[in-house]
Amino acid sequence: MTGVARLGVGIELVGRRHEVSALSGALERAAVGRPTGLLMSGDAGVGKSRLVAEAVERAAAAGFTVLVGRCLDTAESALPYLPFTEVVGALAATRPELVAEHVALRHLLPGGLARAAATVEQRDLGQLQVFDAVLSVLDDLTASTPALLVVEDMHWSDRSSRDLLFFLLSRLTGQRLVVLATHRSDDLHRRHPLRPLLSELVRLPQVERIDLRPLDAGESLELVRLLADGSVPEAKLRRIAKRSEGNAFFAEELVSASSDRLPHGLVEVLVARIEGFSATTQRVLRIGSVAGRRVSHRGLAAVSGLPDDELEQALREAVAHHVLVAADPEPGTFGADDGYQFRHALLREAIYHELLPGERSRVHARYAELLAVPGGTGPRGVAEPGRAAEPGPPRDGGPRPAARAGGVGAGRDGGRRPRGPRGGAVARRAGHRAVARGAGRRGGGRCRRGHGHPVGGVGCEQHRRSRPRHRARQAGPRTRRGAR
Ligand SMILES: Nc1ncnc2c1ncn2[C@@H]1O[C@H](COP(=O)(O)OP(=O)(O)OP(=O)(O)O)[C@@H](O)[C@H]1O
Ligand SMILES: [Mg+2]
Repeated sequence: MTGVARLGVGIELVGRRHEVSALSGALERAAVGRPTGLLMSGDAGVGKSRLVAEAVERAAAAGFTVLVGRCLDTAESALPYLPFTEVVGALAATRPELVAEHVALRHLLPGGLARAAATVEQRDLGQLQVFDAVLSVLDDLTASTPALLVVEDMHWSDRSSRDLLFFLLSRLTGQRLVVLATHRSDDLHRRHPLRPLLSELVRLPQVERIDLRPLDAGESLELVRLLADGSVPEAKLRRIAKRSEGNAFFAEELVSASSDRLPHGLVEVLVARIEGFSATTQRVLRIGSVAGRRVSHRGLAAVSGLPDDELEQALREAVAHHVLVAADPEPGTFGADDGYQFRHALLREAIYHELLPGERSRVHARYAELLAVPGGTGPRGVAEPGRAAEPGPPRDGGPRPAARAGGVGAGRDGGRRPRGPRGGAVARRAGHRAVARGAGRRGGGRCRRGHGHPVGGVGCEQHRRSRPRHRARQAGPRTRRGAR
């Protein structure tokens, strides 16, 4: 359905006061001949382009010439100078006389790059000429009007564009110019080619970083409210805001979804992040997704059954690509078990969705078995008995982590173990309950008498008392018939 504006288009910018003032400050300084390079980073969908749009609007209103170039995800073969061909193309359209002055710029005009350099020297010379030409045309342009040059999505940039950006930012002296380059921080894995460049760029005097954090809870709610425009009940609004964890794109997707389940489109986007990983890494992430937002190393080792080196290799890949982050041990988590956390709860949910039914119940059952191992015998720190699995869609429609204690998942109470003499007993009962939950899962849903434990739970006093057999015993023979 073409022509249907994407949800969120046209709504005012929510939050971002600090970032907007950094942008305005840079524009004001540039207007008086003090150039700035701004490196804006942030996760996919957090709002970088939305802030760029804000900067463009403010710059245009202040009489700046605005030039925007975008890198594209062209997989392996990144097209040389792609964002700068867009910039020079736009400049050639508005100020052809300026571009004509700098012949080397013809290489950046459509069709200009066809002629491959014969030797490396010629290529390097050619490159230097292009770099110089871009710098000079910007010098000429900013002599007459201040300018904002935007280079979007540098995480997809080609080598030449990275080198040219470095060249320009290292030669900002007196131009009435702001150069704003954006990139996705969650795309920058350990060996990403942009990393070494960023560490060089931030050392340049005129370069500033803008690290875009997710919106805070209040701002997320405000955004969701604006997006929903009165069409969603308050309770659901709050749930969506919470689940988005301040990521504007996720908030939009969740608001436009018809139910609480993760919209398919969003699952696709999220799962695409792990599709390039090894099969082992993907399996480890699926297993981890059952444990919850937080998963312990020992839990993963115990449930995956992988040899240490294979497991570590898989976790290293997931951490290097920002799907998991190494999490500090939960305070009071016995055995102080190291763990990992999914970078975004929706990422975990989407990966959980990828589990096949058989795989899902097998992994749940394995966790439940581990949870049932009284402290000391099972892998320590794997889980704190008593806070076991809660399978099945919770109130808010998403799958809930299998365990919320200590190592396996992060319970709000940080997996504190019941202290004192009764501790052990309580734990044991909870362990039994956990095992029961395992059994329950096979049996399906929760105690329909609203006691909160799964059907078939062995340890529930309430349940036992409510059991017809028990009541019959209490009441005598007559009741038995009644019970059926
Ligand atoms: N602060 C905000 N207020 C209102 N809407 C916002 C805000 N931030 C982002 N949005 C909206 O959320 C959506 C996602 O934001 P945006 O495209 O800017 O993310 P991004 O960081 O550029 O993502 P990507 O890395 O995928 O390019 C857009 O529709 C955008 O308009
Ligand atoms: Mg963007």
